[in-house]
Amino acid sequence: MSYPYQIKSLADYHEAYKKSVEAPEQFWAEIAENFSWHRKWDQVLNWNFDTPKVEWFKGGQLNITENCLDRHAATQPDAPAIIWEPNDPLEAHRTLSYKELLQKVEQFAHVLKNKGAQKGDRICIYMPMVPELAIAVLACARIGAIHSVVFGGFSSQSISDRINDAQCNIVVTADGAYRGNKNIPLKSIIDDALVTCPSVQHVIVLTRTGIPVSMIKNRDAWWEDEIKKVEEMGNPSFPAVSMDAEDMLFILYTSGSTGKPKGVVHTCAGYMIWTHYTFVNVFQYQPGQVHFCTADIGWITGHSYIIYGPLSAGATSLMFEGIPTWPDAGRFWDIVQKHQVNILYTAPTAIRSLMGFGTAPLENKNLSSLKVLGTVGEPINVEAWHWYDEQVGKKQCPIVDTWWQTETGGTMISNMAGVTPAKPSFATLPMPGVQPLLVDENGKEIIGNGVSGNLCIRFPWPGILRTTYGDHERCRQTYFSTYEHLYFTGDGCLRDEDGNYRITGRVDDVLNVSGHRIGTAEVENAINMHTGVVESAVVGYPHDIKGQGIYAFVIFNGMHTDEAHTRQDIMQTVARVIGAIAKPDKIQFVSGLPKTRSGKIMRRILRKIAEGELSHLGDTTTLLDPAVVEEIKMGRL
Ligand code: PRX
Repeated sequence: MSYPYQIKSLADYHEAYKKSVEAPEQFWAEIAENFSWHRKWDQVLNWNFDTPKVEWFKGGQLNITENCLDRHAATQPDAPAIIWEPNDPLEAHRTLSYKELLQKVEQFAHVLKNKGAQKGDRICIYMPMVPELAIAVLACARIGAIHSVVFGGFSSQSISDRINDAQCNIVVTADGAYRGNKNIPLKSIIDDALVTCPSVQHVIVLTRTGIPVSMIKNRDAWWEDEIKKVEEMGNPSFPAVSMDAEDMLFILYTSGSTGKPKGVVHTCAGYMIWTHYTFVNVFQYQPGQVHFCTADIGWITGHSYIIYGPLSAGATSLMFEGIPTWPDAGRFWDIVQKHQVNILYTAPTAIRSLMGFGTAPLENKNLSSLKVLGTVGEPINVEAWHWYDEQVGKKQCPIVDTWWQTETGGTMISNMAGVTPAKPSFATLPMPGVQPLLVDENGKEIIGNGVSGNLCIRFPWPGILRTTYGDHERCRQTYFSTYEHLYFTGDGCLRDEDGNYRITGRVDDVLNVSGHRIGTAEVENAINMHTGVVESAVVGYPHDIKGQGIYAFVIFNGMHTDEAHTRQDIMQTVARVIGAIAKPDKIQFVSGLPKTRSGKIMRRILRKIAEGELSHLGDTTTLLDPAVVEEIKMGRL
């Protein structure tokens, strides 16, 4: 496949960017012409950020899977679509060509249909990182069902909250998952979740680990048995269902600063074009290259840059089931060597954790296939950037630092590999179509360079979220009401003298722990579930590997046997309510929390204490009980 819109030089970039701002409709219409449509659109863009309402390619009809599968199966049937590398290096890898992947997606689309799935239904997918996860996702898209993938590290309660919010009728899961030396009992976690999910009628269970599971009659069925039934039907093809450009493609839950996670909604056409365009341009993908994105498909990065971006481009996408440090810290490098990986896209937290093992795991590994390196998910510190550049890229590979969010669908601010300049720890310049601006607390735009502020976007791009599932008002309030007529990202940002953007981190109560987004309110709610806890306050603090760690201040009124034991108990509660990823790194028991006279917790003070900035706490005289601050300082962990 050729990509006529692939930007080839800095001058090209400036030209494309200018056009995308001056004539956005023409710009995106020309790109959209390169996809397969059942019906052309009537209007390129209709929008209003106040409602908010954004519609791209309204009236157009298509199916994203034809763009990701059929058209490549026709022109390059034997080209590898997915290379799958298992958790255990002793197990054989698998390669699925475009022809095979299409056939498997059609088979599973039949399975879903046989279970009664219809266009518009919501289907929850809770699976390990195996090809069948991608197959299930694409099969949903083929029949027009809305997928809601839940990361395999979330607990039963988190899953049931998500299933109930979306009213899913089908769940696709596996018996278990391998992750490093762990064997996670996915089906039994699902069984616990479904006790409180009356909307679910069918559960389809893939065999992965062979761990014993209980199957409920008339509800649960084995993936393999269902596929056999389709084979007995003679493996009929499955024509892709025609979708409106603005029909929902998927829901993906993400944490915000308040309450329960929100179901971010992306729609068919805009998301497809955005992930495709950013994939081809940011990584400068060349046909035949192997792209290895190390994210889990449970997060947006996996949706956009393991599945939809690469496959829409006819690329080869490498999917890895395991973790970077098992069986040893050379696992990524073995994979790069074994599969001749050309593009490696990972998170700063993985780089920092591998840095901790020194350069020995890299010795005798042939990484010469690498052409482009990428990072995503959190700010990359300069030291990690240089290590990545020198030890992994051998100073031969451009590094793209891609800033974006679940809500943006694809990369928003990033350099383009080898085409626009990189600057360590800077995401650098906006993609064509992205119009960033910095504002002060009052929403006043901060003009000029060498300035910092809150990062907003003033014009819609094709991949912007359309709503939060079932609660449009929440979408408006969260993203479009802080500053008038603007999309607010929740991130702080600096613009240097040359106009390069550097994202400095969240300015709301959202933590970024190892690239995972976690709301402080969610963790507090989970801690408060422990019977002995009276109240808690959670803040982030700098953590060498995770980027941010979770620091919890807890008022405990229960029976203390000993503090260490109580801490463990609270950790277990958090793991049970949210998942292990949200376990606090530190729990400090306190007798009170710093509150204003109106009862609001002064997180600013707690944040400073957690960060160890004890002498710069600012004004504490407005506190109800200033003495409590001294006590908390004394007890700091
Ligand atoms: O704070 C920013 C940070 O991750 C947040 C988005 O998290 P999530 O929706 O989970 O998506 C992560 C993967 C796209 C952002 O608000 N973030 C993401 N990429 C970067 C980043 N911070 C700095 N630099 C980045 N490249």
